[in-house]
Amino acid sequence: MPELYDNPLYYEIAFGFRDIPSEVDLFEKCFQLFSGVPVKSVLELGCGNSPHMEELVKRGYLYNGLDLNTIMLEYSRLKAERAGIDVNLFRANMNDFAFDKKVEFVFIMLGSLFVTSTSELEAHFNTVAEVLTEGGLYLLDWCIQDEPLRDGDSDSWEMERDGIKVKTTHSCRIISRTGQTVEEQLVLEVDDNGNQHKITDKAIRRGIYPQEFLSFINNHLHFEFVGWWNNWDLNQPLDKAGVFSRPIVLLRRV
Ligand SMILES: C[S@@+](CC[C@H](N)C(=O)[O-])C[C@H]1O[C@@H](n2cnc3c(N)ncnc32)[C@H](O)[C@@H]1O
Repeated sequence: MPELYDNPLYYEIAFGFRDIPSEVDLFEKCFQLFSGVPVKSVLELGCGNSPHMEELVKRGYLYNGLDLNTIMLEYSRLKAERAGIDVNLFRANMNDFAFDKKVEFVFIMLGSLFVTSTSELEAHFNTVAEVLTEGGLYLLDWCIQDEPLRDGDSDSWEMERDGIKVKTTHSCRIISRTGQTVEEQLVLEVDDNGNQHKITDKAIRRGIYPQEFLSFINNHLHFEFVGWWNNWDLNQPLDKAGVFSRPIVLLRRV
């Protein structure tokens, strides 16, 4: 069966429910309120189809994106070419990479923190610390969860663009309760102007819960906790949230 990240267009339609300019507004609000340095250069981890790339470049930032998948990177490269913008896209593992420049802002979207163990989580933050300027920010979208995922948890939604309809179903299966790992599956049922495709992705993920994450960051040599909010809204502190809905976490490099 075709793989999700080898099909950037269908991925883009399935996850096209976001308001990108207002998300970039929030980045800039965070820069004003919390960054210890002026932000010129940004890095997206697991950039994939790089939804925020054009908006960021339009506002004057240098955009860097890394991803493991070369088809996704090529898709972003073509988007940049069509938009006539200069960006830097490269293939790397977000848990172990080197970058010859420093950036002032790192971000990771839609729970893309793909770690399967605590040691990978540690490796991830150590490697990100290497590329982030002191005082710079790291924003994580939907990377912490309020309750353990359970066997059989499932949700689904539908999106449409240019005559292409995509129904996405997300489901989970527990791998290890002590290791906090689940297998997450995404299935995209695509109707592309009458042609049907079924596309899947399976990924093992280590669940990350608020207090253990806070403790991890408080003990990290190179990061400090700035804040966390629900629904991408700085007026909704996560501590007051009934249910998590796309929570964001903001860290600062120290
Ligand atoms: C959910 S998509 C996010 C794409 C895009 N950032 C967005 O906001 O829609 C996750 C991306 O992470 C990439 N990815 C998965 N594991 C990775 C890893 N270990 N290192 C770098 N990229 C990875 C996938 O190839 C995919 O493009």
